[in-house]
Amino acid sequence: MEGKAWQTNPSSKFPATISLTLVQTLRNNNLSPSCRVALLGATGAVGAELLELLAQRHFPLADLKLLASPRSAGTHLDFAGESLEVESVGEHSFKNIDLVFASAGASTSRAWAPQAVQAGAVVIDNSSAFRLDPHVPLVVPEVNPGALHGHRGIIANPNCTTILLCVAVWPLHRLSPIQRLVVATYQSASGAGARAMQEVKTQAQAILRGDSPPTEVFPYPLAFNLFPHNSKLNELGYCEEEMKIVHETRKIFAAPELRITATCVRVPVLRAHSEAVNVEFAEPFAVETAREVLANAPGVRLVENWQTNHFPMPLEASGQDEVLVGRIREDISRPGGLDLWLCGDQIRKGAALNAIQIAELLYPLQEDPLVSPAPSHSQGVCG
Ligand code: A2P
Repeated sequence: MEGKAWQTNPSSKFPATISLTLVQTLRNNNLSPSCRVALLGATGAVGAELLELLAQRHFPLADLKLLASPRSAGTHLDFAGESLEVESVGEHSFKNIDLVFASAGASTSRAWAPQAVQAGAVVIDNSSAFRLDPHVPLVVPEVNPGALHGHRGIIANPNCTTILLCVAVWPLHRLSPIQRLVVATYQSASGAGARAMQEVKTQAQAILRGDSPPTEVFPYPLAFNLFPHNSKLNELGYCEEEMKIVHETRKIFAAPELRITATCVRVPVLRAHSEAVNVEFAEPFAVETAREVLANAPGVRLVENWQTNHFPMPLEASGQDEVLVGRIREDISRPGGLDLWLCGDQIRKGAALNAIQIAELLYPLQEDPLVSPAPSHSQGVCG
């Protein structure tokens, strides 16, 4: 279907009054209401994952529009066996669109998300542009799905490192409130986009040939190296990435006073982040209890084999939906403390999957009494 957006049934938009019962019935009959979706940043690393997940999870699409910069206009991407043309984002891009997944960077989101909402769409934004806006829900479905209630059209997908951290420590926070979190991250190249992933491979090949590695996306060679995250530093010496973890975790946990500090490091791994986490709780509990809680926590997979020294690894986390957690042990330096290690796919749960899970949550909100009364745009119920 060259040159056309992907459509199943363009007239399948359901009335805004569709009831929760009807949605459930449709779901039970595999006849979900359909949604006209636009991907802003379709040609990027997260865009590619969104395309894969929309097909894999049978997201109820009535229409799919691929948007990127003018550089990509006219190129084609595959979706469910069809070739779709990429369009340059413009002022008419969001007409007749119900839902936008935006992953084209903060400045692009600032420029286009308000226009998309104005045109009647709900935007799930993967950038940092609106995350700390008090009117914008910042959502990890396993943690704070209720924050979606009453959204005003833009919903923010948290920073990738924050998502992975929150999924792993929230179940423990419910057991005993966290007093302090100390996090060290080992972040993959994918967090800096598709070009950054390619750059690591190119650098590795150059080094193995004996040539000097090219550096275009990153300031320093990442292959066979690592460096502290190169986002902007503040007056206290923290970089932006570290402060995202601090502020976003507090917002997601609704714990504005939470004591949390982070050191973020970029490592030569392609697509999964790792984090070493030290947690201090209000009331100590047994390590075995933490293990049991995490073994049953949504979105978490316990990976611990103490005999073989097998614990979460970025290679094994790549392509997986769950956050892999292991090496759970008592912090011998203070009572009430716990250390753990986690790995999660940065592009998947750290970005695209979390965004799609948010979209999947939006359906039952249609008839939810907690949703604020009809604004000019839909509350995110697709179609
Ligand atoms: P393009 O490929 O046309 O540059 P990644 O995070 O993997 O680097 O991907 C970034 C995504 O954001 C790409 O799809 C890129 O499109 C898109 N993008 C970057 N700048 C803009 C812009 N100004 N307008 C629209 N899309 C943009």
